[in-house]
Amino acid sequence: MASWRQSQTVIGPATRQMPVAAPREEPAGDAIISIRNVTKSFGSHTVLRDVTFDVPRGKTTAIMGPSGTGKSVMLKVIIGLLKPEQGQILVDGEPIVGVRDKDVFRIRRKFGVLFQDGALFGSMSLYDNIAFPMREHTSKTEREIRGVVLQKAELVGLVDHLSKLPGEVSGGMRKRAGLARALVLEPKIILFDEPDSGLDPVRVAYLDDLVNTAQHETGATFFVITHNIQSVMRTADYMGLLFRSRLVAFGSKASMSSSGDPIVRQFLAGQAEGPIGMDEMAESGDGQGAARPVVTAGAPGATGA
Ligand SMILES: Nc1ncnc2c1ncn2[C@@H]1O[C@H](COP(=O)(O)OP(=O)(O)OP(=O)(O)O)[C@@H](O)[C@H]1O
Ligand SMILES: [Mg+2]
Repeated sequence: MASWRQSQTVIGPATRQMPVAAPREEPAGDAIISIRNVTKSFGSHTVLRDVTFDVPRGKTTAIMGPSGTGKSVMLKVIIGLLKPEQGQILVDGEPIVGVRDKDVFRIRRKFGVLFQDGALFGSMSLYDNIAFPMREHTSKTEREIRGVVLQKAELVGLVDHLSKLPGEVSGGMRKRAGLARALVLEPKIILFDEPDSGLDPVRVAYLDDLVNTAQHETGATFFVITHNIQSVMRTADYMGLLFRSRLVAFGSKASMSSSGDPIVRQFLAGQAEGPIGMDEMAESGDGQGAARPVVTAGAPGATGA
């Protein structure tokens, strides 16, 4: 079982050269996902470079970063949909890179995933969408399935809309249906890719409450990819920041909030001034930004490699 190693430090360009006198904190316990030296490229474009961190069990961890820094790619690497060129991912201590497809599928069932757009089947009612994983992966009777669908639909406030098609409900409702569907197999780990994109601030706050409620009720590990700092502050216990293909910092909410790292400070404050340029937010896919060195604090890279 991988141990939880990075809870006490924020790793960043300013600190990577030497051991840091980190703020003292309670250790987070063990890691349910351990990401070890992961590098993922598409052709000559390295999207993730030597990324290492541990996701603590039973907590909410948020990964942030400008558009195009590889957050969605990382999520796909974690569930074995994309293979990294280097590195390993341990899920509950089991490797997911370089193992047989059969094992990838088995390990993947530990995850519930809420994709960026909810990824509902457009021709199925919300009810059937939520029921789908149980029909695919369990031998539950329709009566049992109905019980679970209604329970999860109640949790996300959709009981009165279950007969509607995804195209007939709002974006927020689709997100909530995606969340209900991610929960039905009672996964140990739930991954969210930008659950708040396209939602108004009130719905985002509502969704954050829902995430907190679901996390407390299920005790599952939540892993959330988001741009929304307010959301992160409301839901996350731990947070990491990806920037120019590197994980520049990872730590508890408290240690990240008090970080002196200029990239972390700029990102958390949402300021225009700092090492993250405007082009950063728009350069996804140009293949250039990821290869440039980090120009802040006199040191390229950050994961301590
Ligand atoms: N299958 C793929 N083939 C080639 N390039 C890819 C593929 N998937 C992602 N990329 C590239 O990898 C980079 C990172 O993409 P990714 O979707 O992970 O960004 P992101 O951090 O999730 O951005 P956003 O915040 O906009 O969702 C982008 O430049 C993207 O074009
Ligand atoms: Mg993305």
